[in-house]
Amino acid sequence: MSQDPSTAPVGAQEIVFDRVVKAYPGAAAPAVDDLSLTVPAGEICVLLGPSGSGKTTALMMVNRLAEPTGGDIRIGGRSVRDMDPIELRRSIGYVIQSAGLFPHQTIADNVATVPRVLGWAKKRTRERVAELLDLVGLPVNEFGGRYPAQLSGGQRQRVGIARALAADPPVMLMDEPFGALDPITREHVQDEFLALHDRIRKTVVFVSHDIDEAVKMGDRIAVLREGGRLAQYDEPRTLLKEPADAFVARFVGADRGLKRLSLLRLSDLEPAAAGEDSAGLPELPAEATLRAALSLMVAQGTDRVRVRGADDTRLGTVSLDAVRKAGAA
Ligand SMILES: Nc1ncnc2c1ncn2[C@@H]1O[C@H](COP(=O)(O)OP(=O)(O)OP(=O)(O)O)[C@@H](O)[C@H]1O
Ligand SMILES: [Mg+2]
Repeated sequence: MSQDPSTAPVGAQEIVFDRVVKAYPGAAAPAVDDLSLTVPAGEICVLLGPSGSGKTTALMMVNRLAEPTGGDIRIGGRSVRDMDPIELRRSIGYVIQSAGLFPHQTIADNVATVPRVLGWAKKRTRERVAELLDLVGLPVNEFGGRYPAQLSGGQRQRVGIARALAADPPVMLMDEPFGALDPITREHVQDEFLALHDRIRKTVVFVSHDIDEAVKMGDRIAVLREGGRLAQYDEPRTLLKEPADAFVARFVGADRGLKRLSLLRLSDLEPAAAGEDSAGLPELPAEATLRAALSLMVAQGTDRVRVRGADDTRLGTVSLDAVRKAGAA
């Protein structure tokens, strides 16, 4: 999802953590210690680390739900210290694990929260709510009048995202937004969010303690260790290939080779011509990941898969050996 700076989206803003410290009063050690990193405009940065490593604290300092005790955070070049905290919070989308919807308000009213506070005209608010609910796949006619309890967990989470997007904020903060979902729903909502992000290109800081989620969602991953210190900040494939130290290596796991395969797609490889003998091979679309291809080969006991292009055209075959080489590259 990285992009050429010249095509950086209008409205998305760079976020800079500049030697940020948060020491809670009475605590033996800071929750966040000397954190410096830059999130380019329009990218998704995942803060990854074990429980207590300061991820939530780092996130909450961006919209000043927590005040830094040292250093500075700048959004689009402006220090958050110079912004009014209430206005700052209105200008930033915030999604938390339980979606945090108001239980006694309808879905439409929940999504309208910030536009109402900002005093938008009724018609404009209504149109925005309809547009956003459509964007997250919950048409207003069907879902707008329901209450949060009448939705599934995944649907509630999508409403949380729609609500966070309501005033078109340049920045979104997401704190384990999909943590409460079952694995299948989570994967689905992750895919939806990535597709949405491709269209709207906000700058997103996304907290997770799940390396698979981080690799999938992040343009960059910041690994934090106990005491809120930055262990490594890199693109997912670099993190998996070259963990900075033993802590990061342990955190990304022994199967990081497999995880790297999940970052590559069959379309990234040069397929071999499909001969007559390829007729019985299992087949995958070109967008399938190499990890999926490997699983299929193992499950079917073959050492090749056939690759299907758009419009069901056959592109050729990819071998186990080619997958292995790509994973090692
Ligand atoms: N309001 C607070 N007052 C004092 N200490 C706090 C406060 N909030 C968090 N802490 C401490 O700061 C440290 C970092 O907490 P934080 O919530 O940022 O961690 P986290 O990485 O988000 O963890 P988790 O994965 O469990 O959500 C912890 O040691 C925590 O106990
Ligand atoms: Mg947390």
